[in-house]
Amino acid sequence: MPKGEEQLAASRILAVTEEELRRIILDLHDGPVQQLFAAQAQLHSLQSRSNHGEAIPSEEYQLTFQRVSRLLEASLAEIRQFLGTFRPPDFASQDLVEMLHGLFMHHELTTGVVVDFAVTGSPMVPHLPLPGKITLYRICQEALSNAYRHAKAQQQRVLLHTSPGQICLTVADDGIGFQPPPLRGPQATEREEHIGLRGMRDRVDLVGGTFELDSKPGHGTRITVKIPIHG
Ligand SMILES: Nc1ncnc2c1ncn2[C@@H]1O[C@H](COP(=O)(O)OP(=O)(O)OP(=O)(O)O)[C@@H](O)[C@H]1O
Ligand SMILES: [Mg+2]
Repeated sequence: MPKGEEQLAASRILAVTEEELRRIILDLHDGPVQQLFAAQAQLHSLQSRSNHGEAIPSEEYQLTFQRVSRLLEASLAEIRQFLGTFRPPDFASQDLVEMLHGLFMHHELTTGVVVDFAVTGSPMVPHLPLPGKITLYRICQEALSNAYRHAKAQQQRVLLHTSPGQICLTVADDGIGFQPPPLRGPQATEREEHIGLRGMRDRVDLVGGTFELDSKPGHGTRITVKIPIHG
């Protein structure tokens, strides 16, 4: 291979590796790490109520233990899958809408928060490419987790809308809202330890889509992701 071509190939391989590494970090963050956070939050809440002298009914302990145990099992299962293949296998074989139903059911079982889910528009594209499917699923997972951890939301709504050439996901909560940091440019005030929002934007970039975040203190939060699709 001539030198120029060799360099090009090497830089392509490096780019792929870099991209894959970013995806693995984000998958770990949005999957098992968020499940562990949810488990920790539930234990902390019980502990702090008990420290304040509240008599907690035994049914509530039972329910919390069940939820925490489900969260730990699910995060362990994901970590095991990562160690085996670096990619939870279900993504390749399952339909996105089915996977989202499963995610919301799991969210409800483990947090007690119900998700209102609607699918609209033209019939689902039969072959949403794998990177797009993973992007939408993981963003949904992180947005639900953020709403649960930070927003004190009572209600979470997810809409998946398909139109020719595009699939659009919105995830909205009616929680406390916040002043979102600029996600790009010299004014960006991202803190290194906050991976979630930055990760959403990075994931969308990798599949050539757009990402918007609307939030205001007192007015809830909505994220909108649009991904181009073909066929
Ligand atoms: N739905 C939401 N409602 C209210 N505040 C939010 C919401 N989503 C994010 N935030 C605020 O934005 C901050 C950054 O969110 P981000 O997801 O990037 O990081 P994080 O959730 O704190 O940590 P992690 O890296 O585990 O995701 C949060 O700490 C929180 O203050
Ligand atoms: Mg987060």
